[in-house]
Amino acid sequence: MIVKRISKIVSVIPAVNTLIDVGCDHGKIGIEAIQTGKAQQVYFTDISAKCLSKAQNLAEKRNMGDRCVFTCGFGMCGIVADCACIAGLGGLETLKIIDNSQHKFDWLVLNPLRNVKELRKQLQKDYFFIYDEIFFDKKFYNIMLLKKGGELLSKMQIKYGKTNLQYFRKDFCDYLFEERAKCVTILNKVFDEKVKQRLSEIDNLLCGRQYVR
Ligand SMILES: C[S@@+](CC[C@H](N)C(=O)[O-])C[C@H]1O[C@@H](n2cnc3c(N)ncnc32)[C@H](O)[C@@H]1O
Repeated sequence: MIVKRISKIVSVIPAVNTLIDVGCDHGKIGIEAIQTGKAQQVYFTDISAKCLSKAQNLAEKRNMGDRCVFTCGFGMCGIVADCACIAGLGGLETLKIIDNSQHKFDWLVLNPLRNVKELRKQLQKDYFFIYDEIFFDKKFYNIMLLKKGGELLSKMQIKYGKTNLQYFRKDFCDYLFEERAKCVTILNKVFDEKVKQRLSEIDNLLCGRQYVR
């Protein structure tokens, strides 16, 4: 079964000839990308041979072996493709993988689990943020689509994500309310100037806003 997070990631992938599913593990992102017509051919990589074999098994099960290439190693493994998807890794590891590749990919689809601000700060130099939003599937995830280029993000865009602020969709709003509740809980126990400032920033963001569904 494809979980909501995987479907969302695949929905963000642009239609391309070649896709690399980096750190593929089970391989569901790459296989779903073929299945939905997002990619004609998928390169799967994983640093763990055991994880990579799960993707190989899934490709065989779905009779897609002829459209898949499997490589065990770090990051992109020197592979060139139209789009690279790096999902379910930390932001710093994601950056290390992107920096390590000689090739500048036209498209990046990312789902960093931590250090999202650091990732935005670095990638704005070489990429344009087409989509950068919070998505809820049992917990909050950041999902991004970046196009080769570059832009200068504001401090707030680096902190919260460009299109989160632009479209203010329900999941982002829910995320802000959750963050707000965390701040209130802390401030009820102890005074902390930074937490107070964060609460006030969140309140300013929420003030007068309505959900976009
Ligand atoms: C949490 S899983 C994510 C699987 C899938 N991408 C997803 O989002 O559901 C992380 C996978 O990345 C692999 N991995 C971790 N660091 C890596 C690296 N530097 N290069 C390639 N694969 C890596 C791990 O072996 C593991 O299979």
